[in-house]
Amino acid sequence: MTAKIIGTGSAVPAYCMRNNDFTEFIDTSDEWIVTRTGIRERRISKEETTISLACEAAKKALQSAKSKAEEIDLILVATCSPDAFFPSTACQVQADLGAKNAVAFDMSAACAGFLFALNTAYAYINSGMYRKVLVIGADSMTRFLNWHDRGTCVLFGDGAGAVVLEASETGFFYSVQHADGSRGSVLNCFVKYEDSLLKKQGERTSYIQMEGQEVFKFAVKTVPACIEELLRKAEIQKEEIKYYILHQANSRILSSVAKKLKEKEEKFPMNIQKYGNTSAASIPILLDEMNKEGKLQKGDVIVLAGFGAGLTWGSTLLEW
Ligand code: ACO
Repeated sequence: MTAKIIGTGSAVPAYCMRNNDFTEFIDTSDEWIVTRTGIRERRISKEETTISLACEAAKKALQSAKSKAEEIDLILVATCSPDAFFPSTACQVQADLGAKNAVAFDMSAACAGFLFALNTAYAYINSGMYRKVLVIGADSMTRFLNWHDRGTCVLFGDGAGAVVLEASETGFFYSVQHADGSRGSVLNCFVKYEDSLLKKQGERTSYIQMEGQEVFKFAVKTVPACIEELLRKAEIQKEEIKYYILHQANSRILSSVAKKLKEKEEKFPMNIQKYGNTSAASIPILLDEMNKEGKLQKGDVIVLAGFGAGLTWGSTLLEW
């Protein structure tokens, strides 16, 4: 048994922050941000939450899949910026949708989260345990930004994307995934606790901290290697791939991956200019936009690739 994506949806906050808006409080420029990252603007939550964005994306995905909430067996939410430690975002989505037959839980793998959740959904379907899975990537990274750290605050945005993955007799689905916790310190965001009865917590912050160049080098080295590994596993030639849909972290990373794979940049669609890095939401938001624009046709072979904190990275090849 294999699986196919039968519907997509996405949601972003209403408020749009443009690059020039940062110049009011940090030493930066639109030119620096655009040339170094490709980002022109991003959406930032005011009223929205990780749960509300996830619910909106999920409802649109169900509509697009012409599926009822009761048909869903499992809801997986990839997030590293939930509204609460518990209950999980996935359980709140289940309640909001009325998906009363679904079991629901969250997964945490930062920017690779959606890809890992999609692969997990596939594994459940492939095992015969579930038939229809709602997979959501939802993050509100801007709530963990140090707005005075120009090396990180210009990079991120909030959003959510969702797909419905269903068991299928036809098509194919291959994946490879990796993790290297020994390099976890290059990209982190610690939990800030209140003082407890026995321990004073001190000055610990809960901001995103990143060694940008290290993450950049990690991405441009591991992502092409991982895609090559995937193509060997699937025994598929690059010529057969219509699109490489990568996590939207930096336009220069996408260009570098294309170059290393000796592929045309046109095969690497991009929407980072509008949303910045939305972490686990970036791949499903892009998938949804492409789906709505009619860029994905039945039978198309596509590669998805994610990478981020952990460190974690992976790629998936599937037939649309
Ligand atoms: N505006 C102006 N100047 C800036 C800014 C800014 N917003 N940010 C940094 N600079 C300055 C630096 O201070 C430095 O100045 P100096 O030379 O005087 O010291 C100079 O620009 C160069 O800084 P670098 O950090 O070397 O810039 P770089 O070209 O590496 O770009 C960036 C930085 C955009 C962060 C890049 O390294 C990058 O994209 N890294 C990867 C990020 C990523 O992929 N993250 C994905 C995972 S996120 C997740 O999983 C949660």
